[in-house]
Amino acid sequence: MSKTKLLNIVGARPQIIKSSAISRAIRLNFEQEITEITLHTGQHYDKEMSDVFFDELEIHKPDFNLGVGSAHHGRQTAAMISGIEDVLLSEKPDAVLLYGDTNSTLAGAIAAAKLHFPVIHIEAGLRSFNKTMPEEINRIMSDHSSTLLFAPTNAAFKNLINEGFRPENSPPYTIDNPKIYFTGDIMYDNSLFFAELAERKKGPLLESMALERDKFILVTIHRDINTDDTARLETILSTLKNMALEYSMPFVMPFHPRTVNSLKSGLNNLFDDLKNSSNIRVIPPVSYLAMTLLEKNCSMIITDSGGVQKESHFFRKPCLVLRRETEWIELVANGTVKLVDANPEFIRNEFAGFMQSGKNLEYPGFYGDGKTAEFILKEILLLFER
Ligand code: UD1
Ligand code: UDP
Repeated sequence: MSKTKLLNIVGARPQIIKSSAISRAIRLNFEQEITEITLHTGQHYDKEMSDVFFDELEIHKPDFNLGVGSAHHGRQTAAMISGIEDVLLSEKPDAVLLYGDTNSTLAGAIAAAKLHFPVIHIEAGLRSFNKTMPEEINRIMSDHSSTLLFAPTNAAFKNLINEGFRPENSPPYTIDNPKIYFTGDIMYDNSLFFAELAERKKGPLLESMALERDKFILVTIHRDINTDDTARLETILSTLKNMALEYSMPFVMPFHPRTVNSLKSGLNNLFDDLKNSSNIRVIPPVSYLAMTLLEKNCSMIITDSGGVQKESHFFRKPCLVLRRETEWIELVANGTVKLVDANPEFIRNEFAGFMQSGKNLEYPGFYGDGKTAEFILKEILLLFER
């Protein structure tokens, strides 16, 4: 029997990390059955936003890099669609594997669906119910172009049913007769796999940054609602700067280039203040293993990231989310994630609450058994046996 040829499409930091779970599962369990080729759109291109992950996580290196770089949504997505189309026509994969909700995901979905290549969407069904988020458009369009949809949570699975997907569909599956699954989260596979390695390889980082275990706060900010609205970004960062002083605790901030660009262009004084404040550590984006180490050892996380808020759960840390809504609603229901928007009062109150109760929280296993990538690959292979 010939091998199944899968085209992985990645472009943004979290997708590269997600694809490592699939790459690893192929390498360990399905090398006889699956050939993997990877297309990088080039959406993220700085070394610390891209190459570092391929090196550190031993991910299958991209066979194609479109090098599209940064641009407005339409221009960026169009360049990706065009480049992906060329690769689909030359490589003729059996299916296309998409991750998450970025413009690279959307471009892959459109290019593949129009050429009738089956689309497999990993992290399907997540919804914020806020269509002003670019990611919400990307998710809906990608899900509705897919043949196999792997929902990481029960809530995501139910969202798909509410949009008309039918769990009772039977094979053969097609774009018009898609199959939906409630799996788990491949990022949980990754956190389990890399947690110990992160300690071994990156442990000295804590000492070099003079960070004591369980005595620092980890902060990431990158969403357009926070970075592109100067007043909002200023409110958040001024609040955090003052809290770092009051609590006399280091706040570690590995900032996305988008956030640094906004600080440099509209908030130079605040940026200088942050850099000169002894308790604030603004640093460049860190590698995934370094991030894992920081998440595992901090006392609380403050973020607007989807991935980081989930990792807060994997590493049993309370988390403030700098948004009004989240796709990972089970975390809010569980009380370990608090939605604080950019509201100084909410940020301060929930922070104080977690400082008191943080040790007594519970972190149930919402995200599978750590073998989600294997499950997904088994199901993908069935698509081609039927
Ligand atoms: C993208 C995703 C978002 C995801 C995030 C993960 C979309 C619409 N958004 O947002 O869902 O959460 O990635 O990190 O796809 N930049 C650099 N160097 C880089 C990459 C970006 O300097 O390597 C700067 C550029 O100024 C660019 C800006 O960051 O304009 C935004 O990058 P972009 O990829 O458009 O969106 P993200 O905010 O990264
Ligand atoms: N991450 C990282 N280094 C950083 C910040 C984040 O490796 O400096 C990882 C993080 O651990 C998670 C993923 O990047 O696995 C989340 O990506 P991001 O926050 O950029 O996007 P989102 O998940 O919100 O789409």
